[in-house]
Amino acid sequence: MKGIILAGGNGTRLYPMTYAGNKHLMPLFNKPMIYYPLSVLMLSKIKDILIISTPEALPTYEKLFGNGNQLGINISYAKQEEPKGLAEAFIIGEEFIGDDSVCLILGDNIVYGSGLTGILEKSSEFVENNGGAIVFGQYVNDPQRYGVLEFDENKKITKIIEKPKNSPSNYAVIGLYYYDNEVIDISKSIKPSDREELEITDVNNVYLEKNNLNCRIFSRGLAWFDAGTHESFLDASNYIHAIEKRMNLMVGCIEEVAYRNGWISKKQLLKLAQPLLKTEYGTYLERISNE
Ligand code: DAU
Repeated sequence: MKGIILAGGNGTRLYPMTYAGNKHLMPLFNKPMIYYPLSVLMLSKIKDILIISTPEALPTYEKLFGNGNQLGINISYAKQEEPKGLAEAFIIGEEFIGDDSVCLILGDNIVYGSGLTGILEKSSEFVENNGGAIVFGQYVNDPQRYGVLEFDENKKITKIIEKPKNSPSNYAVIGLYYYDNEVIDISKSIKPSDREELEITDVNNVYLEKNNLNCRIFSRGLAWFDAGTHESFLDASNYIHAIEKRMNLMVGCIEEVAYRNGWISKKQLLKLAQPLLKTEYGTYLERISNE
């Protein structure tokens, strides 16, 4: 399975923070936002990752991660000239995906919590073995900001509606999706929405119509944030800070995930820690290398 992080767009809902810089490079507490979705793909055991961003921001991502080999992964990069919608990721990434299945994560989505690694690994395996798509839902107070699940009386999903004025439920679709290879053709077949975007929700509805969409509901033990507005950005930062301080464990620490996955050695981990040793981030890496 391949992985794509979509980290483009203009970040207009975070202006003026994002006037001059890409949203996914902004720090959530102690690391760039993109570390969190990258760590989720790595926890899924995905090693081939494409970062899609704006032409202006891509060189900065290349500087940040290079080819990814220091983390035991392969990172490549592609431009999205204009934010024409989430589903465009599969058209831009067609060559990168090849004949494989693919996991898409939005660059501003943060997921964390108990049992997450197991859910990610199982989802990836399920789509690789059975095809189709997997999306995740979570109960939220403000569903109108998201793609929302509509259910029938038997709790079967009947439709996903993008940013409905009157939400059919409180279950939002989170920005993490697993698809078989058909997603490329489906993305090419859908038409732009009223807001001129190729909507991921339309892709998901095609899978649903074909009876090929699986939806897993995130339990209470799992936290999901999108850091797309000032308030949700602060909420996500505060949450990460609270967890890290209380548990003395890092959230979204890509070096740690690489090490625990067995993709880099202790020596390589210590080399990555070296330039960070004036920070708690660096001493944390040193600590886990001695566990
Ligand atoms: O966060 C989950 C939600 O993400 C889903 O519930 C919705 O169904 C889905 O449409 C999406 O809604 P948003 O309105 O939050 O998407 P937004 O336009 O904010 O874009 C999400 C991320 O993807 C953001 O970090 C910017 C990036 N992006 C967005 C677009 C439209 C791109 O890189 N390129 C794009 O063309």
